[in-house]
Amino acid sequence: MNNQDIINEVRRKNDIVDIISEKIPLEKRGKNYFGVCPFHDDTNPSMSVSREKQIYTCFSCHATGNVFTFLMNYEHKEFNQVLNDLAERVGITLNGFKAKKISTKYDNWYNIYDFANKYYQNNLLSKEGIDAREYLKKRNIDDETIKEFEIGYSLKDKDSLTKLLIAKGYNLDLLNKVGITTNDYDIYHSRLMFPLHDLNGKVIGFSGRIITSGKQNKYLNTKETELFKKGKLLYHYHIAKEAARVKKSVIIMEGFMDIIRASTIGIKNTVATMGTALTKDHIKEIKRLSNNVILCFDGDEAGVKATISGGELFISEGLEVKVITLPDSEDPDTYILKNGKDAFFKLIDNAIYYSDFKIKNLGHNRNFTSSEEKANYIHEVLEETSKINDPIRIEIILKDLAKRFEIGYNTLEKSFQELKDARKLNKKAPLITKMKTTQLKKKDKYQKASLNIIYYMLNKQEIIDIVASEHLVFPTEALRALESEIVYFYHKYGFINEADFYTYLAPKNELVNLLAEILQLDLKPTLTKDELFDYFKVIREYNLKKTIKHLEEKIKNTNDPSEQIKYAEEIRKLRIGES
Ligand code: UTP
Ligand code: MN
Repeated sequence: MNNQDIINEVRRKNDIVDIISEKIPLEKRGKNYFGVCPFHDDTNPSMSVSREKQIYTCFSCHATGNVFTFLMNYEHKEFNQVLNDLAERVGITLNGFKAKKISTKYDNWYNIYDFANKYYQNNLLSKEGIDAREYLKKRNIDDETIKEFEIGYSLKDKDSLTKLLIAKGYNLDLLNKVGITTNDYDIYHSRLMFPLHDLNGKVIGFSGRIITSGKQNKYLNTKETELFKKGKLLYHYHIAKEAARVKKSVIIMEGFMDIIRASTIGIKNTVATMGTALTKDHIKEIKRLSNNVILCFDGDEAGVKATISGGELFISEGLEVKVITLPDSEDPDTYILKNGKDAFFKLIDNAIYYSDFKIKNLGHNRNFTSSEEKANYIHEVLEETSKINDPIRIEIILKDLAKRFEIGYNTLEKSFQELKDARKLNKKAPLITKMKTTQLKKKDKYQKASLNIIYYMLNKQEIIDIVASEHLVFPTEALRALESEIVYFYHKYGFINEADFYTYLAPKNELVNLLAEILQLDLKPTLTKDELFDYFKVIREYNLKKTIKHLEEKIKNTNDPSEQIKYAEEIRKLRIGES
């Protein structure tokens, strides 16, 4: 079997509906399955999965592809990794199989970051790294941890790394662009260096920490680049991926020193933002790791605020949220250092529900001297409680509240019911979920005919050879390329199905998009020969018009009357043929 055959075999044995439904709930409607698309921010089931065609398509964001592309995007894995996973899943051995690596414009970027990463790590072990090593020792970070987190050190001088990279053939423009240098010099000096990995584990930047107290920023991060986006990046995500699956939860912390410390006591299902608030993009990525999150922010006031804002976001995305509260002025790093492993494990075990945390927090810094203050507070608590689904927890909260403020349980219960009923009324009846099909750009009749022909080539293979023998020239380069790929694929394998064809086209992004657009056309299932020939006619009319236009240009551009007559005659002949 050749590579493509093996790939197709793996794909065929891994049913797309089975695989996707392991990740997101799917519901059968008619022939297809529907679910909430994980590739954009949505709550409507806009993604359709076809068992028959073995592809998925999102009507809203137009994400589309087969089982491979789904997992590549969903799990942030490379093609080869996904292929391995799926082969293993169905017991296919990939002996000596090597899929070609697809090179991208970022290969150089990754090479630069990898080189810098190794360079910084070497510096730490060198003579110049002595102060940094001392610093780490003082912070109780041992050699094993240094290695695991690839901690390094940037030298004092102005351009040692720049010089090395230039000698390796990289130009300054690129080095400035990727954020390794600024204005042609090294950007980091005398800082402890922490590589930042993207969600797949590739180094895409650094954070450098000062090792002496000074006026500079404590941490200096790589600037935002095409690869490094703070609003998306989560520190330690690539490691937490595996750990979160095992532990069935993911712990969110504030700083990466906290993550590093937690790792030393075996807690690896942790992620942190780069010192920014959590964004919707972060939440979406975290949701892929687990539906259970534990917020473990610093014990100061900022930490409480971050817990509330993060907590609300997670809750609104339907995750189960628990909270660990640390003593004031502690962060997970200092807490673990001070109290040890067991104490921290206990904190995790005793994490409280976010709603309980919030209710507790509602009572902070309030004095309940007036009946109005008390009533306000009680209403806020009821409001919060109404978001809880578990009747037992609701009863516990109401009973506590009744006891604390010496109110009859029934009175509270009644208010609570009223609040819930009012809520229900307020909630607008959900509108029929409208699929947001973004309007396809207006197409002229020639493009439409081409799209339709290609649609039928994919859905009725017997017409592929008819189309091929017509030698049609489609109006755009992409359409021509797609048509010839279909013919090529069909002749090579003797059949064509959308799912395998997607794999085959995957490196040609532009064609994949065009293919997706065509497959979304909802054309009638049958096509008569006459209808097909009508489409051909439209394409030929286009070609004829183009040729005539071309000849007219030639007439305009020449001053030689005999040439002009020649072209005019050609046009006349073409026009006769046309009628
Ligand atoms: P912290 O100040 O809590 O960091 O900031 P930390 O992890 O406890 O660091 P140590 O223990 O003092 O070494 C939380 C996060 O905010 C970002 C970093 O990502 C840090 O991990 N941050 C902080 C910056 O980006 N720049 C700064 O100057 C400070
Ligand atoms: Mn800290």
